[in-house]
Amino acid sequence: MSSGRLDIIGLGPGPERWLTMETPAILALATDVIGYGPYLDRVRARAGQKRHASDNREELARAYNALDLAADGAHVAIVSGGDPGVFAMAAAVFEALETGEEKWREVEIAVHPGVSAMLAAAARLGAPLGHDFCAISLSDNLKPWSVIEQRLRAAAMGDFVMALYNPASKARPDLIHDCFALLRELKAAETIVGFARAVGRPDEKLTLTTLAAADPALADMSTLVLVGSHATRSFEARGRRWIYTPRGSGTR
Ligand SMILES: C[S@@+](CC[C@H](N)C(=O)[O-])C[C@H]1O[C@@H](n2cnc3c(N)ncnc32)[C@H](O)[C@@H]1O
Repeated sequence: MSSGRLDIIGLGPGPERWLTMETPAILALATDVIGYGPYLDRVRARAGQKRHASDNREELARAYNALDLAADGAHVAIVSGGDPGVFAMAAAVFEALETGEEKWREVEIAVHPGVSAMLAAAARLGAPLGHDFCAISLSDNLKPWSVIEQRLRAAAMGDFVMALYNPASKARPDLIHDCFALLRELKAAETIVGFARAVGRPDEKLTLTTLAAADPALADMSTLVLVGSHATRSFEARGRRWIYTPRGSGTR
């Protein structure tokens, strides 16, 4: 059978209005849509289209399934929250493609960007990513705490603004507390911290605080944590508190 195609699509952090304009048309052409159940629920059902829901941790199995279907001629869309290349499905597909079956390499593949959670969270809070920043996943599924710790130390030493993804681990609920304990050793007490929960969704909750006062328990699986650099600032205008990192923040 002739090879089909695989579109790897970012659905953004939640609301439909934050989908890119190309996304609905690409989804409409798919014969098969694959994704983690809650992401799949955000895709409008279309007559004749098959939907394949799977569990959160089954990213490689999902990638194999998508490549198999596409290699047999299907037009497959695999969906991710946010951007598909940020702690998400695009990397899993390329891991599978590089090491997997030869026939998978005949599949036409495209990666379609989406609004990543850190960008949506930053926009809600002002412009905290206005100068050098980094993104770190706190998930210890695919890397040990020692690596997370090393990267937090390096980010603090470099005075990067940090966007922390996956702050809540069911398997290790104390991880976010360890993370804050470490940051409190490394960074000033008055460092600005933002918790952006369920950004763009009806249950969105934004909390601005300082590293000294931050309650790590505010960070659940739907939260993006922003930790400022020494230059990140906070002020009020029209009764609303904003944070931003000036474009020219220099050395300490
Ligand atoms: C597996 S990662 C996927 C990231 C996604 N690919 C992206 O670009 O945003 C899931 C993590 O993204 C963050 N996240 C996703 N959607 C979010 C939202 N609407 N509000 C806040 N954080 C969100 C949370 O940290 C969550 O634990």
